[in-house]
Amino acid sequence: MLLKHVCFLISVSWILTIFIDAQIVNLSNNNPIKEALFLHNTTAFSNNSRDKCMWRAVNNQKAVCPDPDINFILYAESKKEFVDTYENDWLRQSSWNDTKENILIVHGYAGGDDTLPISVLRDAYIATGRYNVWLLDWGPLCQPPCYAAAVHNMKAVARCAGEFLTAMRFSGMQTDRTTCVGHSLGAHICGLISHYVLFRLHRIIALDPARPLIPVQSRLTAGDASAVHAIHTNAGHYGEMGKSGHVDFCVNGGRIQPYCESTENESLCSHVWAICYLAESLHTELVKKAEPCSRRCPTGSRPGHRVGFPVLMGQPTPLSTTGSYCVHDDQPPFCPKQPGAPGDKRCCIK
Ligand SMILES: *[C@@H]1O[C@H](CO)[C@@H](O)[C@H](O)[C@H]1NC(C)=O
Ligand SMILES: *[C@@H]1O[C@H](CO)[C@@H](O)[C@H](O)[C@H]1NC(C)=O
Ligand SMILES: *[C@@H]1O[C@H](CO)[C@@H](O)[C@H](O)[C@H]1NC(C)=O
Ligand SMILES: *[C@@H]1O[C@H](CO)[C@@H](O)[C@H](O)[C@H]1NC(C)=O
Ligand SMILES: *[C@@H]1O[C@H](CO)[C@@H](O)[C@H](O)[C@H]1NC(C)=O
Repeated sequence: MLLKHVCFLISVSWILTIFIDAQIVNLSNNNPIKEALFLHNTTAFSNNSRDKCMWRAVNNQKAVCPDPDINFILYAESKKEFVDTYENDWLRQSSWNDTKENILIVHGYAGGDDTLPISVLRDAYIATGRYNVWLLDWGPLCQPPCYAAAVHNMKAVARCAGEFLTAMRFSGMQTDRTTCVGHSLGAHICGLISHYVLFRLHRIIALDPARPLIPVQSRLTAGDASAVHAIHTNAGHYGEMGKSGHVDFCVNGGRIQPYCESTENESLCSHVWAICYLAESLHTELVKKAEPCSRRCPTGSRPGHRVGFPVLMGQPTPLSTTGSYCVHDDQPPFCPKQPGAPGDKRCCIK
């Protein structure tokens, strides 16, 4: 009896949490991520738009991959190639370069190939010339206003990504030279891949892993790869609170980025700018140093200091690092300081 009541209370408080979130969202801003928060309110969308949402099942035994709505694109040696998963020796015939590390980039809600904000990161990795850059395009399965469907589809996407990595590994791609980089929902997809492969994932870089409506069993955890590094920029709103990995970087307290305060939607801006921090970290002269700190993310106004050495935040973070690290900086990351300086104008505010 008591247990039943406790369960009831938990589910009521869960519904309330989502409801309160919805209240603080300004519907007059025509913004896909904001609209997404209203999906629990079925009257907020016409039946038509909900009917168009795509829901992919994963628990049946039927072969579901390759899936026409889940594509893998290789950007290497100035070429763009769509992976043909039916072709056994695709990797060897492609412009993949086995001397380079592999980066698999996974976009979030409302993303796709050639969409902002993920294209900033894709282009930054390509520009270094040091990586085989792969993009997981699951755009058709995460289009607005279908946020709940997108969350549901993460497992199906991860399953196909697992089959893709397994096939590439069979063709000679070393898993210990492969990093999965995911933004928002994409961060949880990187984690879920571990459920669908028989080897250990090497490294995950999670950019402000998404919070709204993520079920506990789909949430990214440190168990999902040998090294899981998370960068938090909007913790508690679009992004998760607390620890997501072996290393959690809490940027400017983790909740709101100061340069986003002048924008119309500071939460969305803060959530998106996580991408610019990782892009910036690919440049030795720009990468930020993070200090060990003791508080959970988001921190209060004064994060406690912790004994330890500072580490570089992002791509160069050592694989052996653990714990929480704090970064302070009031300028938009990766915004070029002057014309011709390294960076991407798309990371500037206004
Ligand atoms: C909602 O956004 C509109 C347009 O940006 C603005 O004019 C209005 O004041 C906002 N309302 C609230 C309650 O924040
Ligand atoms: C659901 O959405 C509709 C349309 O936006 C709104 O009129 C209604 O008040 C909402 N209901 C709840 C419970 O939020
Ligand atoms: C629209 O949704 C409502 C509520 O779920 C349902 O009663 C109604 O039959 C639906 N209409 C159509 C045309 O599907
Ligand atoms: C592979 O990458 C290495 C290191 O960047 C480069 O020297 C080499 O020319 C590349 N091979 C091909 C076939 O492009
Ligand atoms: C929300 O924020 C993003 C990033 O700053 C901006 O590009 C977009 O125009 C904003 N949208 C609205 C409706 O305020």
